[in-house]
Amino acid sequence: MKISQRAQSVPPSATIAVTARAKELKAQGVDVVGFGAGEPDFDTPEYIKEAAVKSLQAGQTKYTAAPGIPELRQAIAAKLQKENGLAYTPEQVIVNLGGKHSVYEAMQAVLDPGDEVILPRPYWVTYPETIKLAGAVAKVIETDKANSYKLTPDQLQAALTDKTGMLVLNSPSNPGGFTYTPDELAALAKVLEGTNVYVMSDEIYEKLIYGDTKFISFAALSDDAFSRTLTLNGFSKAFSMTGWRLGFTAGPLDAIKAMGRLQSHMTSNPVTFAQYAALRALGPEANGAIETMRVEFEKRGKVMADRLNAIPGIECAEPTGAFYCFPDVSSHYGRTIGGAKVADSMDFAKVLLEQAKVAVVPGAPFGCADNVRLSFACSMEQITKGLDRLEKWLAE
Ligand SMILES: Cc1ncc(COP(=O)(O)O)c(C=O)c1O
Repeated sequence: MKISQRAQSVPPSATIAVTARAKELKAQGVDVVGFGAGEPDFDTPEYIKEAAVKSLQAGQTKYTAAPGIPELRQAIAAKLQKENGLAYTPEQVIVNLGGKHSVYEAMQAVLDPGDEVILPRPYWVTYPETIKLAGAVAKVIETDKANSYKLTPDQLQAALTDKTGMLVLNSPSNPGGFTYTPDELAALAKVLEGTNVYVMSDEIYEKLIYGDTKFISFAALSDDAFSRTLTLNGFSKAFSMTGWRLGFTAGPLDAIKAMGRLQSHMTSNPVTFAQYAALRALGPEANGAIETMRVEFEKRGKVMADRLNAIPGIECAEPTGAFYCFPDVSSHYGRTIGGAKVADSMDFAKVLLEQAKVAVVPGAPFGCADNVRLSFACSMEQITKGLDRLEKWLAE
């Protein structure tokens, strides 16, 4: 039986593939150090789990309104007002089934076949595929390593055409842990004034910022930015709720209503008791729970970047956000290690896993073949062990 062209055009997620292979080895009893996973190693805070249990016990087990329960939309609008300075009404907020779903549905709602989407490289692996699934075309922009792989106003200006439908921004970023400064974002916003270009601002790592890094929502830059931005966020990373599948989007009312129409046919509401738990997640305990994790991630990111930079032939910028290091390892390409040829990032990740039992994600699916991604969402002990192994493997 046939498989659609659409489905055939989409490869499986590279990050999920590496994690799956590492899990397979672990299941065989192999001692693998996993730097592949894009999820916090902390459990969901207890107060959130309790809220889900209470919700189930109270019989909150039926369908809700497709875009989410009104209380949660209201609480998200209040969070966006208080923390981000964004005056969205609850009707301008939709609760989705994970941040990934927010990205997919937002693109489905506002892009037409042939529209161009400006996508700075490196990018999160899911963006090119969701752009393709919307029938649109990714216009990938080469960014400069010396500028922490960030899009400049001149590059944005040069990329704009009358077909441009959207600019995708992700700060703090996956895979790099890079963050734009408020001034850098303001300069990009200025370039878009007078255009009809949406900005998809994926702010899922908003809470995970380090050192003196400042976070600002793109939509908070100006009235013009507010009117063109789809602000995406979710509960997975900040609250360690990856398995709960809860994301949200806020933006222009027409776009959010369009997402709501799609959602009403594609998935209906996000899981009911998970929404009640999310409501509680945003309550007064939120900041304490997030800060504990943030402080730990900051320590780990520093240690990982320092250790990577101490390995000959590896260059790694210290992450200013998220929980990833994205070192350039390309000076090792062309070598034969332990009898295996390491020609590119795919080989690097594969051979490293098979020989040294360390799981990293190749940079190629993120658009940067010189790099590999290491997640520091794992214990300090695992970081030390994995980097000892990597160092030894490269010294062969
Ligand atoms: C940049 C970015 N956006 C969105 C997501 C989606 O998160 P989830 O679907 O788990 O909520 C991820 C997860 O890896 C991400 O890295």
